[in-house]
Amino acid sequence: MRSMGLTLLLTFTTLMLLKTHGFTDETDRQALLEFKSQVSKDKRVVLSSWNHSFPLCNWKGVTCSRKNKRVSHLELGRLHLGGVISPSIGNLSFLVSLDLYENFFSGTIPQEVGKLFRLEYLDMGINFLRGPIPIGLYNCSRLLNLRLDSNHLGGGVPSELGSLKKLVQLNLYGNNMRGKIPASLGNLTSLQQLALSHNNLDGEIPSDVAKLTQIWSLQLVANKFSGAFPPAIYNLSSVKLLGIGYNHFSGRLRPDFGILLPNLLSFNMGGNYFTGSIPTTLSNISTLERLGMNENNLTGSIPIFGNVPNLQLLLLHTNSLGSDSSRDFEFLSSLTNCTQLETLGIGQNRLGGDLPISIANLSAKLTTLDLGGTLISGSIPHDIGNLINLQKLILDQNMLIGPLPTSLGKLLNLRYLSLFSNRLSGEIPTFIGNFTMLETLDLSNNSFEGIVPATLGNCSHLLELWIGDNKLNGTIPLEIMKIQSLLHLDMSRNSLFGSLPQDIGLLQNLGTLSVGNNKLSGKLPQTLGNCLTMENLYLQGNSFYGDIPDLKGLVGVKEVDLSNNNLSGSIPEYLANFSKLEYLNLSFNNFEGKGISTKAMPCASTTSGEEAFLSFKESCDWS
Ligand SMILES: *[C@@H]1O[C@H](CO)[C@@H](O)[C@H](O)[C@H]1NC(C)=O
Ligand SMILES: *[C@@H]1O[C@H](CO)[C@@H](O)[C@H](O)[C@H]1NC(C)=O
Ligand SMILES: *[C@@H]1O[C@H](CO)[C@@H](O)[C@H](O)[C@H]1NC(C)=O
Ligand SMILES: *[C@@H]1O[C@H](CO)[C@@H](O)[C@H](O)[C@H]1NC(C)=O
Ligand SMILES: *[C@@H]1O[C@H](CO)[C@@H](O)[C@H](O)[C@H]1NC(C)=O
Ligand SMILES: *[C@@H]1O[C@H](CO)[C@@H](O)[C@H](O)[C@H]1NC(C)=O
Ligand SMILES: *[C@@H]1O[C@H](CO)[C@@H](O)[C@H](O)[C@H]1NC(C)=O
Ligand SMILES: *[C@@H]1O[C@H](CO)[C@@H](O)[C@H](O)[C@H]1NC(C)=O
Ligand SMILES: *[C@@H]1O[C@H](CO)[C@@H](O)[C@H](O)[C@H]1NC(C)=O
Ligand SMILES: *[C@@H]1O[C@H](CO)[C@@H](O)[C@H](O)[C@H]1NC(C)=O
Ligand SMILES: *[C@@H]1O[C@H](CO)[C@@H](O)[C@H](O)[C@H]1NC(C)=O
Ligand SMILES: *[C@@H]1O[C@H](CO)[C@@H](O)[C@H](O)[C@H]1NC(C)=O
Repeated sequence: MRSMGLTLLLTFTTLMLLKTHGFTDETDRQALLEFKSQVSKDKRVVLSSWNHSFPLCNWKGVTCSRKNKRVSHLELGRLHLGGVISPSIGNLSFLVSLDLYENFFSGTIPQEVGKLFRLEYLDMGINFLRGPIPIGLYNCSRLLNLRLDSNHLGGGVPSELGSLKKLVQLNLYGNNMRGKIPASLGNLTSLQQLALSHNNLDGEIPSDVAKLTQIWSLQLVANKFSGAFPPAIYNLSSVKLLGIGYNHFSGRLRPDFGILLPNLLSFNMGGNYFTGSIPTTLSNISTLERLGMNENNLTGSIPIFGNVPNLQLLLLHTNSLGSDSSRDFEFLSSLTNCTQLETLGIGQNRLGGDLPISIANLSAKLTTLDLGGTLISGSIPHDIGNLINLQKLILDQNMLIGPLPTSLGKLLNLRYLSLFSNRLSGEIPTFIGNFTMLETLDLSNNSFEGIVPATLGNCSHLLELWIGDNKLNGTIPLEIMKIQSLLHLDMSRNSLFGSLPQDIGLLQNLGTLSVGNNKLSGKLPQTLGNCLTMENLYLQGNSFYGDIPDLKGLVGVKEVDLSNNNLSGSIPEYLANFSKLEYLNLSFNNFEGKGISTKAMPCASTTSGEEAFLSFKESCDWS
């Protein structure tokens, strides 16, 4: 009875309070209609249920408290609403949850949000909001989740944020916040997730962060933070997701790193200035799934990861790991224990020796293998084709020798195959045509010989084909002209003969055609003029003869080299009108008549000879 009486008394008092302040569900209705009036006209139709003839508590996105029929939840996420957020929102005084996630709201966050003292959940993420975080917001002392990510909010991270003591999640990812992290954030001792990535924050991480003992996700990626690896973070043993990549951190990691942070699932410190060796204790973190230490200045050897069974992603590329010795790849066989491994990036290091054959025993789930730009010698292991889910295989800029192994033909999911600048030899295998998903093929600067296989025509998604700087002969296969997607075709510096195929004009997306320094001959096909997107045309150093075909349509062309052929006739005058032309070389041909003057380059000569080429780069003096 007593408690009933108390409840009645309280309710009565509340009603009296409401009466005196004049706040009722009518206030909510007015506030929401005002809110609607600030939503851009074209999207207001989404809120058509917000009208006088329809009950407030049934309006789209509106939930009322059962007790007093006041609006408690406003959920308008992902409705693509534009316009500004009306200050009237501050009159929804019973609001507990406000979700405007993923809309097109612009303008500022109204101060009046600070009147919503019952608010626990506020999400204005993914909008176009500007200005600072309003000071009023710090009155919302019951807030648990504050998400303002992916906007254009500026100013500093206000120290008043530290007064929102109940916060469990604070997400300011992807804004334009400047300055340092205030020490007061250490007061948010309930915080479990803190995201400050992709802002312009700087300075060191305050030691108070060590007080955030509940935190499991700490994201500081892509700012300008500096100093050593933040000592405070070593105290956060509960952290599972840690991102400090793409900042200005430097110095060495503590050797007991993995003992202090034993619960990490994901750790990204790529793109900093860290030095020293990779702590071997990282491999004591048996929960680790993603590790990014790429783009630093790490030295020493790569640890054994055999006891990290769930490792999915290991990025160590672009460091100074290894010592150009045959022991550098000893870690690799331990990675065969990591049966979930999908991405392995260890290129751009100082790893030497042969590629161990155990590479073929890595997880069949592997989709990316990057070993480019190291010091690997020997041949490509025979059974590399076991890695049947590979989409990206990068072995470029090494010292690999020998032919491509037959098993490679099993990699039917390949999209990116880069083997340039090695000493690979033998023929380009016909199984290249198996790679029907291939988008980039780079075999340039090797010792491949024989013909260009016609099966390449099956690679119908190819965007870039690089086979220059080899010892290829035979003719340019007509099948290549069927690859309509091609943007870049480079076959230069081989010994290809025959003519440029008539069907070259089918390559409607071609931006670069490079067949210079081969043994090609014949007339240039008229259809060349159909490649309207052409920017770079390199045909030099062959035996093409006859007139320059009608290239009037190639108005976007930037570089043209026709030098060292037997071309004749007059130099087309329209070349002078190509406003993007930066380089034109017509020397060592048999052109006649007038030279021309182009915008980027004063003069082009009809004279054959090196002097003339030099002269048109400089001035028209010779004419
Ligand atoms: C009010 O909203 C209801 C529910 O969406 C709708 O059926 C009705 O047509 C609306 N009335 C007006 C006048 O827009
Ligand atoms: C909030 O409600 C009061 C009382 O109904 C009203 O006077 C005021 O204009 C409202 N504020 C806004 C911003 O709509
Ligand atoms: C926030 O609280 C302070 C102090 O209680 C008060 O003066 C101020 O008006 C409040 N701001 C808003 C927007 O409610
Ligand atoms: C909040 O943090 C600051 C800086 O660490 C500190 O000076 C202040 O006393 C803290 N306030 C409370 C109420 O804990
Ligand atoms: C961090 O941990 C170290 C060693 O365990 C301890 O001495 C230090 O007081 C801790 N710092 C904070 C701020 O808790
Ligand atoms: C870390 O792992 C190594 C190698 O597996 C092991 O010898 C060592 O005892 C581990 N250390 C701790 C603290 O678990
Ligand atoms: C990386 O380390 C090497 C050797 O320790 C040093 O020569 C080089 O300057 C460093 N590079 C950067 C970018 O710090
Ligand atoms: C691979 O896993 C097995 C079984 O978990 C373990 O005994 C072995 O030590 C691991 N290998 C390496 C190199 O860590
Ligand atoms: C690869 O795995 C197979 C089958 O598990 C095994 O027989 C072979 O010895 C392994 N090869 C290497 C190089 O580890
Ligand atoms: C070609 O590859 C060799 C290594 O095989 C390298 O030394 C050379 O710089 C490369 N040339 C070009 C033009 O990339
Ligand atoms: C790959 O191509 C070769 C020759 O073109 C063919 O014999 C082979 O069956 C193909 N392999 C697969 C797995 O499709
Ligand atoms: C093409 O190159 C291959 C391998 O170097 C050679 O055997 C063949 O005779 C060459 N063919 C022609 C027509 O030059």
